[in-house]
Amino acid sequence: MQIAVIGVGYVGLVTAAGLAESGNLVIGYDIDVEKLKKLQRGEPPIYEPGLDRLLERGLREGRLRFAEDLEEAILPAELIFLALPTPAQAEGEADLSFIFSAAEAIVQILARISDGLPVPKIVVTKSTVPVGTARRLQSYFEDRLPGRLKVASNPEFLREGYAVEDFLKPDRVIIGTPDPSVGDILRRLYLPYTRQGNPIYIMDWESAELTKYAANAFLAMRISFMNEIARLCEHVGADIDKVRLGMGADTRIGRRYLFAGIGYGGSCFPKDTRALLATARQHGLTLSLVEATIAINEEQRRFFWEKIWTYFEGQLQGKTFAIWGVAFKPDTDDIREAPALYIIQWLLIHGASIRAFDPIALPSLQRAHPDWPLYYARDPYDAAAEAHALLILTEWAEFRQPEWMRLLKKMCLPVIFDGRNLYELDQMRSLTVDYFSIGRPSVCTYSERLASKAT
Ligand code: UDX
Repeated sequence: MQIAVIGVGYVGLVTAAGLAESGNLVIGYDIDVEKLKKLQRGEPPIYEPGLDRLLERGLREGRLRFAEDLEEAILPAELIFLALPTPAQAEGEADLSFIFSAAEAIVQILARISDGLPVPKIVVTKSTVPVGTARRLQSYFEDRLPGRLKVASNPEFLREGYAVEDFLKPDRVIIGTPDPSVGDILRRLYLPYTRQGNPIYIMDWESAELTKYAANAFLAMRISFMNEIARLCEHVGADIDKVRLGMGADTRIGRRYLFAGIGYGGSCFPKDTRALLATARQHGLTLSLVEATIAINEEQRRFFWEKIWTYFEGQLQGKTFAIWGVAFKPDTDDIREAPALYIIQWLLIHGASIRAFDPIALPSLQRAHPDWPLYYARDPYDAAAEAHALLILTEWAEFRQPEWMRLLKKMCLPVIFDGRNLYELDQMRSLTVDYFSIGRPSVCTYSERLASKAT
């Protein structure tokens, strides 16, 4: 099929490259010409495992192109994917101005073709848009170009770091359309990606749009639930990781999205949960579980912070903190809503020095906060030099097996606050360290030894 993808940010680019992979002819368009030039050279502007390979193959074999002219992208296209940003506004509701200005541009171009189109083009919303957007978009097109554009909703479920895999082998594909012929075309488009038998569900616009929000809110709720139980664990002497294993083995519950930590971040969960509340509010409803999910997530960062505050009795001025991980999760350079941003900010407010390390997200941090006086470390051990404590904020694989002696020797104090529960408690008990994690008993072999020496 001939396809245009408007907006080649994170979702658009993976969609364009992924669709080209099964033989479609795809033209990507974006208003950011610099980004397009990079892409034309085969350089992905974002870090995403496997994307460079797809991009290179699509360009080399001529199935994937990037055009600086919208007309060149949409005129030959049977399908036009909209993968534009829908940023949150003050009250959490999504801003649809990018979607509707693209719609206006499409209308202007197609209006110039006076003899109409052989068949209507299908406009597919890929961005996460509030319930009701596809219907609004369809009536926008009907008012201006009757019968020439059909709107379908096709929400994405791509996890950063696994987006290529998620696109090529989706758990399910959701298509929202009231028109069976549109449903058939999109089903055919996705068949090569669901050969293992994963379902393609065709439903109405509103259900498709709400599925996306409900899925993300549900996953966020699981995480907040576990974070809340983790707090209880600390009071009753339980270990959240054991509770998680015990719960997750129940097939009704499942093992995924049950990891307690310092709260979820990223471009989706925080924004989508707030947008869902905004939609409910517009309909006069309160979604208490979603409200609680958001509140618990915000408290969780504070909960972690309190551990640091309490340990140092509020004396953070002049102390040095090593930070391992600033990305909101591993395998991405994305720092949007990363818990690390809050922790760094609070440390700076209280006069602490920071030595930060992340395998790939430091440039993103530097770009977003050029004014923050941070030391950008070369490696994890460089970050730890002379630190009064190490804070683990992202669970990068390379942090899982540190050389303990080398690490602890470098530090001014052997103190670790682990926001991601990376280490076995038994292993920590064999070291001389004060180790605090989430929802698990603290290990204080360092303080205990100091105390026994003093007596
Ligand atoms: C998410 C959804 O998974 C994806 O389907 C959607 O379309 C976009 O949003 P993403 O934001 O890339 O994807 O990250 P994900 O891997 O889902 O993690 C989100 C956040 O939850 C991260 O901050 C992660 O650290 C946190 N998390 C995840 C936990 O704290 N515990 C868990 O058990 C799982």
